[in-house]
Amino acid sequence: MKYLVFNSKKEASKEAYTILKSLINENSTLGLATGGSPIALYEEMIADYKAGNFSYKNVKSYNLDEYVGISYDHPESYHKFMKINLFDHIDIKKENTHIPDAGNSDLNAVLKNYQEQLNSADIDVQILGVGSNGHIGFNEPGTPFEKGVHVVDLKQETIEANSRFFNNDINLVPKQAVTMGIKDIMRAKHIILLAFGEAKQYAIKSLVECDEITENIPCTVLKNHPSVYVLVDKEADFKK
Ligand code: GLP
Repeated sequence: MKYLVFNSKKEASKEAYTILKSLINENSTLGLATGGSPIALYEEMIADYKAGNFSYKNVKSYNLDEYVGISYDHPESYHKFMKINLFDHIDIKKENTHIPDAGNSDLNAVLKNYQEQLNSADIDVQILGVGSNGHIGFNEPGTPFEKGVHVVDLKQETIEANSRFFNNDINLVPKQAVTMGIKDIMRAKHIILLAFGEAKQYAIKSLVECDEITENIPCTVLKNHPSVYVLVDKEADFKK
């Protein structure tokens, strides 16, 4: 695992893009994440695309997760997030982008369908953020590492953390989500995890410093992965 600390989110995201570009080509498959952490990386991707240096015409993407119970037009749905923060600004084809169809009321069919899609995909690089409790995707503490795509009941701390995107009103935050499993995340060839701000110190310390790999802190599973880059700002760095 490579652990890299930067003065700012911007610097970390620039380096994340340099690493990403060294690992992919214009036919690659990306695993994408939502939340605040990847936004500056997506800005780097967009800027480089607009400068004519990279095309996403033949790139495929698979997102980690989607909320259950809000429409895709909702500004905080992950479908909308990806359009606003990345897809609308690059030449990726809509049919090559994949996000769990969690708005479909037949959730069993959604899980089966997304699992089949992931099983036939080979993700070259998975972009990850991390929750303050160590969750990756929406795999909350206690999720068995061998689980595939599943529906998750969000932990209270996750609902509270994500309420900042919902007018700080926890009642507006969806209570469930569909997420890739840890097993699916671990199949990616390379993983780039971004974490910014003091709230991430516990998760980052658990991942980088402790020897224990535990389902109680899901991100610790990444110690078992052969190619992981962890990029943080100095606020998320546990050594400060
Ligand atoms: C959500 C997402 C995760 C994300 C995490 C951290 O729960 N499902 O994929 O990593 O939040 O979010 P942020 O990057 O906004 O801190």
